[in-house]
Amino acid sequence: MSALRISGTTPEESLYRRVGGMAFFRQLVANFYDGVDVRPVLRQMYDEDLTEAKEHLALFLAQYFGGPETYNETRGHPRLRMRHAPYVIDVAARDLWLEAMLLAIDRSGASELDRAELVAYVDVAAHSLRNA
Ligand code: HEM
Repeated sequence: MSALRISGTTPEESLYRRVGGMAFFRQLVANFYDGVDVRPVLRQMYDEDLTEAKEHLALFLAQYFGGPETYNETRGHPRLRMRHAPYVIDVAARDLWLEAMLLAIDRSGASELDRAELVAYVDVAAHSLRNA
């Protein structure tokens, strides 16, 4: 996935830096999982305790957008298609996931340009993860 990175070419220019670093991704992911919580089709896929899911997604997105490589160091190569294989992700589930994420991005307080960059990536990624 990192080969598809579309954010800045130097760490100074990365979206990660522009939005304020890890705190931004933690808040984004907290808001995203609030959306998961009220979408039963999604909620039933996740563990009751969302602590780890939040940590994984926040570290992954932070890394993708130019932040520290903690995700790779702790989880290994993302292999997102493989890691999502246990879940039935049909068009409906994908669209619910995207809806929750787009709402979280809308509310994130990032600039219009940074929001567009976040949306562009999660849209492509979500489309690539449909498996049913
Ligand atoms: C298309 C709809 C999607 C569904 C229904 C879905 C569902 C899930 C579920 C149930 C998990 C397990 C929770 C955990 O332990 O982390 C998971 C993990 C994860 N998802 Fe998704 N996901 C979707 C799309 C995406 C997208 C678009 C991304 C990236 C932008 C993504 C990134 C991740 C990451 C990084 C993990 C943790 C992998 C790990 O380290 O184990 N997911 N997802």
